[in-house]
Amino acid sequence: MTKIFAHRGSSGTHPENTITAFKEAVRLGVDGIELDIQLTKDGELVVIHDYTLDRTTDGTGKILDYTVEELKAFDAGSKFSPEFAGETIPTFREVLALLQDTNIELNIEIKKPVKEDTGIEEKMIQELEKYQYSNRSIISSFNHDSLKRVISINKDLECAILYMKKFENPWEYAAEIGAKALHTYRPETDREMVTEAQHKGFPVRVFTINKAEDMTKFFETKVAAIFTDYPEKAMKLLKEV
Ligand code: G3P
Ligand code: CA
Repeated sequence: MTKIFAHRGSSGTHPENTITAFKEAVRLGVDGIELDIQLTKDGELVVIHDYTLDRTTDGTGKILDYTVEELKAFDAGSKFSPEFAGETIPTFREVLALLQDTNIELNIEIKKPVKEDTGIEEKMIQELEKYQYSNRSIISSFNHDSLKRVISINKDLECAILYMKKFENPWEYAAEIGAKALHTYRPETDREMVTEAQHKGFPVRVFTINKAEDMTKFFETKVAAIFTDYPEKAMKLLKEV
């Protein structure tokens, strides 16, 4: 059965990557939650997608230029809707504490805008261990060097390559770097590849599936999971397939 991952929380109905979006996903009983992590200026892990504050908060400028305390002063809810005024950018720790007593899987996408070593991977792994979330987590990134670093620290963590353009035999490349799953872009994902990859033991999870027709198509393709901004809709549709 295809799993439903709430993409950035229940981000179609709640402000993305906020505690209220994650609580809504928990309330719905999703299989998993996807979120994005970044480092702050003072080396804390926060949950936010963009490298800048501008699109989702009332702040401006780069995440990396602010301390966690400074970031906490920004409103991360009002731009989505005034009813969510007062939501803040969560720390990774806050989300782990929220999910600790659930059985929800977590897909942590590492957003790393620089090439040099920042220590983000070590910090993430420490937090996962502290909250006993390591065996319920999938680590993904478009930055495959970052995944390699995660694997070099703990090869038992499930890492998934994120990529946009399809290419031949992606499972071979994944295996080369020690990744165990493929997170693929919807328009570049076809049934043949999914079947072969999963037959070879590489789960395929597809982003970001928001239309009912696409949900049904990928449920029928039997992908391991879809990422969606509308998990409630997806969960209802899945019951009908
Ligand atoms: O992890 C799946 C998806 O979230 C990757 O793209 O841009 O939404 O972070 P993006
Ligand atoms: Ca993401």
